[in-house]
Amino acid sequence: MKNIICLAIETSCDETSMSLIRNGEEELATIVLSQIDIHANYGGVVPEIASRSHVENITLVLDELLKKTSITLDDVDIIGIANAPGLIGSLLVGLQVAKTLSWLLNKPLIPVHHIAGHIYAANLEQRLEFPLIALVVSGGHTELIYMDKDYSFKQIGNTLDDAIGECYDKVAKILGLPYPGGPLIDALASTGKDTYQLPLPLNDNTYNFSFSGIKSAVLNLVNQEKMKNNLIIKENIATSFQNRVLEIIVKKTIHAINEYKVRNLVVAGGVAANKELRRRLSEYTANNNIKLFIPSIKYCTDNAAMVGSAAYYAYLRNKTADLSLDALSVKSLYQE
Ligand code: KG4
Ligand code: ZN
Repeated sequence: MKNIICLAIETSCDETSMSLIRNGEEELATIVLSQIDIHANYGGVVPEIASRSHVENITLVLDELLKKTSITLDDVDIIGIANAPGLIGSLLVGLQVAKTLSWLLNKPLIPVHHIAGHIYAANLEQRLEFPLIALVVSGGHTELIYMDKDYSFKQIGNTLDDAIGECYDKVAKILGLPYPGGPLIDALASTGKDTYQLPLPLNDNTYNFSFSGIKSAVLNLVNQEKMKNNLIIKENIATSFQNRVLEIIVKKTIHAINEYKVRNLVVAGGVAANKELRRRLSEYTANNNIKLFIPSIKYCTDNAAMVGSAAYYAYLRNKTADLSLDALSVKSLYQE
């Protein structure tokens, strides 16, 4: 079969990213321009600033991308675009560029759901095997997904309130740490002790999650300690918090692997960068003869390479769009 080169675009939040991916697996070039330094000044992503930065940067990112390889726009076969879900203003910038390139080059436009992108990040390093369970843990999502084949997604569990990454970021904020706090909690937790009493989040037999309770528990704990003039040992709070949330995430993931009788596990999304989560799932899968697909750290957080991989498999299933394609801030991966 002919080689298919995808030019992929990801602008759903605060990264302006473009990538060239061959046949869903081979990364030819990627640029990720992060706006984190700008948003850190405000303690979180400011949507208006994010979309303006995408506008300023996106053509520069395209120029840089093309400089990185001998591939030219004439070699591109499909245009992959993460058009949902995300910040609407940010998504629209990437979508407009994708539509323009699709029209200009007369190449198919392939919409990719952001979560499908995260799952296919792992495919860039190791071809996915099916059936599989995907654990998607990011700033906006906490889901367990069953896939029996490429580009076929069945949700089996979801968060009922906050996403896990959002919860990490809020706990970090309570501890006075800068945005994004997830990696900082991860680092602190590795040096602390599990000394604080915090509740296990939604410890039941479903595949659903709930993290708002433990977030409030951390807030109450910190306020109480302050009122008593007690020293707050941040690393111990980080360890206690992380142990509780990971205990439930790992337990429910193992439950899904067993109940759906799969031998393959994908872990995806920004929180898949978490060292302790990686350690626990690596240990479990190694001891139980389960194949673990977990992207390198650079592919865990938002990037266009993952979109380029997913777009290839969407294209093989004829999931193309015309120029009326819209961006959606909220969209289910399961409604087509
Ligand atoms: O996938 P992503 O880049 O964006 C979304 O689609 O949401 O995920 C970003 C999230 C942030 O909440 C960030 O704090 C969290 O992933 N994160 C981590 C770690 N690295 C990033 N959370 C815990 N431990 C980490 N090492
Ligand atoms: Zn993401």
